[in-house]
Amino acid sequence: MQRNTLSAERRILITGGAGFIGSHVVRRFVKNYPQYRIINLDALTYAGNLENLRDVEKAPNYTFVKADICDAVAVAMVFTEHAIDGVIHLAAESHVDRSISDPMAFVTTNVIGTVTLLNVAREAWKDRLSGHSPLSSGEGRGEVRFYHVSTDEVYGSLHDDSLFLESTPYDPQSPYSASKAASDHFVRAYGNTYKLPFVVSNCSNNYGSHHFPEKLIPLMINNIRNNKPLPVYGKGENVRDWLWVEDHASAIDAVFHKGVNGETYNIGGHNEWKNIDLVHLLCRIMDQKLGRAEGESAKLITYVTDRAGHDLRYAIDASKIERDLGWKPSITFEVGLERTVDWYLANTEWLDHVTSGAYLRYYEVQYAR
Ligand code: NAD
Ligand code: TYD
Repeated sequence: MQRNTLSAERRILITGGAGFIGSHVVRRFVKNYPQYRIINLDALTYAGNLENLRDVEKAPNYTFVKADICDAVAVAMVFTEHAIDGVIHLAAESHVDRSISDPMAFVTTNVIGTVTLLNVAREAWKDRLSGHSPLSSGEGRGEVRFYHVSTDEVYGSLHDDSLFLESTPYDPQSPYSASKAASDHFVRAYGNTYKLPFVVSNCSNNYGSHHFPEKLIPLMINNIRNNKPLPVYGKGENVRDWLWVEDHASAIDAVFHKGVNGETYNIGGHNEWKNIDLVHLLCRIMDQKLGRAEGESAKLITYVTDRAGHDLRYAIDASKIERDLGWKPSITFEVGLERTVDWYLANTEWLDHVTSGAYLRYYEVQYAR
């Protein structure tokens, strides 16, 4: 039975809150739960940007701490100073291409950083762990919860028309997904060994505002705008299952508040697209928005060398979270994609800022094709 204790005060540490998904989660929690204190801990790597949170940075229930999740002393200070009783862990290195050129950064943040957080949480919560109910929803007064936000890429690559279930065996294929799989395993191992109350969710590809323009959708929008080539890997036949980022944030809210300790929830949009079809759709939308002749932007499409070990298809069966927690996506892809394009066209300063300087040099060296 769910207890309705949303009015209770909570002190929630959100890691990676300056990044793409994290900033949407921080915004949602700060605005929807004024009775909570939200502490956003982020190292502000190339992917983290406080501009993403301008609209909530002065909210009385919000605090930002610049720190690395691998820094146990800094993380422990945050737990003590703010009496943290819930963690929503999103901080990660998140781009597959970068994981291919620099796997160690992924091991460091995604594996060692996650284990560092787990150790600090375990120590900070040690007096409360013995009494917790393993099947609790984590909502009771005095209860603590570690929520690990993960990816469907841990399940590997689909080569038939099946879908990823929570019971699908792990089979990570890239250094990124291997590091996320390792961190998922550590979270579950701490639950089993030390009785740390946890939940895990594995989500499909997100899209929306504030997405760093190294990932497919914002990269293509930015390149179309700048009349630059649109690099499609291989034949463009790989399939991804796209979910609007604000729907992922609402799913994270549902899992944090209503998920059962020890459970995993797959999150997805029932929205599979071949990369090349998606790029053509974006070209059509951009032609309209920019007043270009139909077919103009598609001339920029350039097929480039495939990504090493490129996973063919990801697709999520999200029936468990719908059945158990009553969550489902709120908008269609058509609506979400148009909102997304509109946001980037209204925020070209943001795009120009995050693609300037150090990032651009890194990008040109690593990914020049
Ligand atoms: P992102 O790269 O946009 O943001 C990551 C954030 O983590 C940044 O703000 C960065 O500064 C911060 N960070 C990185 N290393 C850190 C460290 N050592 N210490 C503290 N902060 C650090 O990533 P995203 O796309 O928002 O993804 C967030 C989480 O969701 C990740 O765990 C990712 O694996 C997961 N996820 C992402 C997707 C997706 O489609 N983007 C899908 C499913 C799951
Ligand atoms: P990406 O956004 O990097 O997400 P992920 O690899 O985690 O799924 O890539 C989405 C798909 O788009 C993936 O199949 C790789 C492909 N892709 C391109 O074809 N060109 C690009 O420039 C990028 C960044 C991705």
